[in-house]
Amino acid sequence: MTSSDDAHRVLIFDTTLRDGEQSPGIALNTQEKLEIAQQLARLGVDVIEAGFPITSPGDFEAVQEIARTVEGPVIAALARTHVADIDAAWNAVRDAARPRIHTFISTSDIHIRHQLQTTREDVVGQARAAVAHAKRYVEDVEFSPMDATRADVQFTAEVCRAAIAEGATTINIPDTVGYTMPHEYSSYLERLYELIPELGDVVLSVHCHDDLGLAVANSFAGLLAGARQVECAVNGIGERAGNASLEEIVMLLHTREADVGLHTAIVTREIARTSRLVSRLTGYAVQPNKAIVGRNAFAHESGIHQDGVLKERTTYEIMDATTVGHEANSIVLGKHSGRHALQQALAELGLELSGQALNTAFKRFKAIADKKKVLTAMDLEALVTDELREDVAAYHLEWFDVEASSRRPPHATVGVRTPSGEEVTGSFTGDGPVDAIFRAINAATGADARLREFRVDAVTGGQDALGETSVVLEVGGAGPASEPVVGAGQGVSTDILEAAGRAYVRALSNAMRRRGVMAEAEAATAAAKEPIRTP
Ligand code: KIV
Ligand code: ZN
Repeated sequence: MTSSDDAHRVLIFDTTLRDGEQSPGIALNTQEKLEIAQQLARLGVDVIEAGFPITSPGDFEAVQEIARTVEGPVIAALARTHVADIDAAWNAVRDAARPRIHTFISTSDIHIRHQLQTTREDVVGQARAAVAHAKRYVEDVEFSPMDATRADVQFTAEVCRAAIAEGATTINIPDTVGYTMPHEYSSYLERLYELIPELGDVVLSVHCHDDLGLAVANSFAGLLAGARQVECAVNGIGERAGNASLEEIVMLLHTREADVGLHTAIVTREIARTSRLVSRLTGYAVQPNKAIVGRNAFAHESGIHQDGVLKERTTYEIMDATTVGHEANSIVLGKHSGRHALQQALAELGLELSGQALNTAFKRFKAIADKKKVLTAMDLEALVTDELREDVAAYHLEWFDVEASSRRPPHATVGVRTPSGEEVTGSFTGDGPVDAIFRAINAATGADARLREFRVDAVTGGQDALGETSVVLEVGGAGPASEPVVGAGQGVSTDILEAAGRAYVRALSNAMRRRGVMAEAEAATAAAKEPIRTP
């Protein structure tokens, strides 16, 4: 799809797995990235930016796996203008049905002088050479002049012209530091159209950060100025204050289509579920009043509003909650449901299980259904991202005992199965029952893990609601030479302490896996002269 196929169609370029994954504390493993990518395909995004392959073997592996498995969207990989970056990007996406290489270099003098420590002339040369090199591999090449909104527009135009001359098919104009304003951004793009006559032959794209809370407004201004690709992330996650939120820009175009005349191919009913999955796997909570996907986005508190909505929904609602998939709370399963019913319900959530994996999932489902009589679609969805998934090569919390009292410090003992199958035990007297469990897990596994974030939520309402916990921890980094490695994990159970313990061992497994991968990466790049900086 190019801009010329339908002049009013906006391409949705999702960067949740690349710019979004650069948010502090997010540490997705390959399996989790793949799950998100599969859901993004169901959501109907046009492009998935799957990662930045040169940065680590883990990133490379995840992009490659997504390219090989996920059908539908274009799969893009990010690369600086260096030959090694472009080669890594190509090797990671080459098996995709529709691969894209996205290469970038800064055009602002601040970046050229202080970060790149080079000259404008060199930047033009690097942009030209990078696009030419990428073009040897693939037809679909995107070029971004980083920090464009703080750069001289004439110089940015010169660099973009060079990129187009070498065959770039998309030109993306990033507001890297979230500095621009809607009227300024649209003027900037209009000026680029004047300076680059060839811009009309390629797709113009917008990429806005939210440092001043203007990412969606700026992206929208860019679309009104003629851009036909918007780069965004689910729940607006991304560097610092994040990227333009996918759900907000999509629903803006959807709700105001009659006035704006632009549309996307997004399956809007998948939005809420995609948001929940990303929140769960990244550990990034969605604020209750967040537009479109917040828990209160469609709730009416004032009596006058409730009265109006009961009489006629449109009195106080500009969108129908079902349009974004908020209603999915129907009863699906109970403790008498059989294996087949579970298998079917999971398939509806996009998880095909059979054989031993289905048996394991069924055993865990039964244990939960015994305590919680009725499981809704949302409960099942939460369980799918935790207990119903077979996690190989990981730690498992087998059992725990906690003695909690207001008169003496709580004491916990845990049994953890290690990745090699052995059961190890550990005990700790902590500040609270959760702290005692976490430190008992450290004692059992010998891990030097430190808790960074801990969150507890209820999946649905009601006294027997499932508790959902999210843990971010770090391991290592004690010595001067070693960097700490971050791991995130989630746990779901009717028992909050159990959910917390599960989340902790999963986060620990992810951090340990990452540490293994990073150790390999360090060895492989030891000879490299330049450190890799993510944009
Ligand atoms: O914000 C930015 O400039 C980026 C580029 C790599 C597109 O993320
Ligand atoms: Zn960015």
